Amino acid sequence: MSDAVQTQSSNAAFTKRVFSGIQPSGDLHLGNYLGALKRFAGAQNQGIETVYCMVDQHAITVWQDPAELKRSTRELAAGFIASGIDPEKSILFNQSQVAEHAQLAWVFNCVARMGWMQRMTQWKDKAGKNSQNASLGLFAYPSLMAADILVYHATHVPVGEDQKQHLELTRDIAIKFNNDYGVEFFPVTEPVIEGAATRVMSLRDGTKKMSKSDPSDASRINMTDDADTIAKKIRKAKTDPEALPSEAKGLEERPDARNLVNIYAGLADMSVDEVLRDVGGKAFSEFKPMLADLAVAKLSPISTEMAHLMENQDEIDAILRKGADSARAIATPILEKTYDIIGMVR
Ligand code: AMP
Ligand code: TRP
Repeated sequence: MSDAVQTQSSNAAFTKRVFSGIQPSGDLHLGNYLGALKRFAGAQNQGIETVYCMVDQHAITVWQDPAELKRSTRELAAGFIASGIDPEKSILFNQSQVAEHAQLAWVFNCVARMGWMQRMTQWKDKAGKNSQNASLGLFAYPSLMAADILVYHATHVPVGEDQKQHLELTRDIAIKFNNDYGVEFFPVTEPVIEGAATRVMSLRDGTKKMSKSDPSDASRINMTDDADTIAKKIRKAKTDPEALPSEAKGLEERPDARNLVNIYAGLADMSVDEVLRDVGGKAFSEFKPMLADLAVAKLSPISTEMAHLMENQDEIDAILRKGADSARAIATPILEKTYDIIGMVR
C-alpha cells in the first residue's frame, strides 16, 4: 500500500512485547471486551511483557466534554482491571501522562505521507462528507497510534478487526523510517486479530459493527449494563426465523444469526463449530436465553467490580501514575535514540 519497501523480514532482534490501547470515549461494550480486553488479560497471563494504555489523546480528535473525559478515563481503567489486567503484571497508564507518545508522533508525521492517511477507511467514515471541517488530529490519528506502539518497540498488538488497516500503516511507518535512515531501529509490528469475535456486530443490524457511537443503546451490550438489561437486549436482538444450523457454513448469509453465535463462542471460549455442534437445530427462542445466561455470568462480575473500583478514584489515579512512570522508563531511551538517528543535537 505504500512507497515503503519491505527490507526487514523478521523481528528476531526485538524482545516480544505486547502493546494495545482503547479510547476513553463513551462506554465500554461487548465488542471491546471480546475483541480486545479479554485477550489483553490472556497475553498478560502468558508471562509476556504487556503495556496497555487509555488513549485520551486519540479521544480528543473528536469533541469530548472535559468532565466526561475524566470520568471515562477512570472508568476505562476500572474496566481494564476488572477484566483481569493486573497493574502489578502489566503496565497500565494514560497516554497523555507519557509525553513521548506525542513527541514520537511528530516525527512520524514527517515520515508518513498524506496519501497513506487519506486511504484510511476510519478517516473516511469519521470525517464524513465535510472533511474540511474535521480536526487535523483526526487525519493524523494513525501516526499517533504508530507512535504509541513503536515508542515501546512493541512487536505484537492485539486488536479487533477494525484496526487492521491502522496496523498496516504502523508497519509502513516503521519500514520507511528504517529505510530512510538506514537502520533497523523500529520493529515491524504484528497485528494479533484472533478468536471468534474479532468483529462483534450491532444487535440491531448484523451488518454494522457494534460501536460506542451508535445512537441506539439497544445495539450494544455495555460493560456497565445490569443483568436484566443484558437479558432484555439479547431477547430483542435481531434474528431470522430459521433454526440454528449445525455447521458454520450455514451462517454465511445470515449476519444476525452469525453474530449471536460468534458472541456465544467468544464468551464461552469455544469455536463456532463447537458451539453449533451443541446448539444446531435449536430455535432462537431457545438459544437466546442460553446466550443471555452466559453473557450475564461472564459480564456481571466485571461490571460489579468496575462499580466497586470507581468508588475509589484516588486509587485508580495512583495506579495510572505508577503505570506512566514504568511506561516512561521504556519510552524515554527509545525516543532519545530516535532523535539521535534523525540528527537532533541533544
Ligand atoms: P475503541 O473503542 O475504538 O478504542 O476500540 C478499542 C478496541 O476494541 C480495539 O482493539 C478495537 O478493535 C476493539 N473493538 C471495538 N469495537 C469492536 C467490535 N465491534 N468488535 C470487536 N472488537 C472491537
Ligand atoms: N485506534 C484504536 C481504536 O480506535 C485505539 C488505539 C490507539 C490503539 N493507539 C493504539 C490500539 C495502539 C492498538 C495500539 O480502537
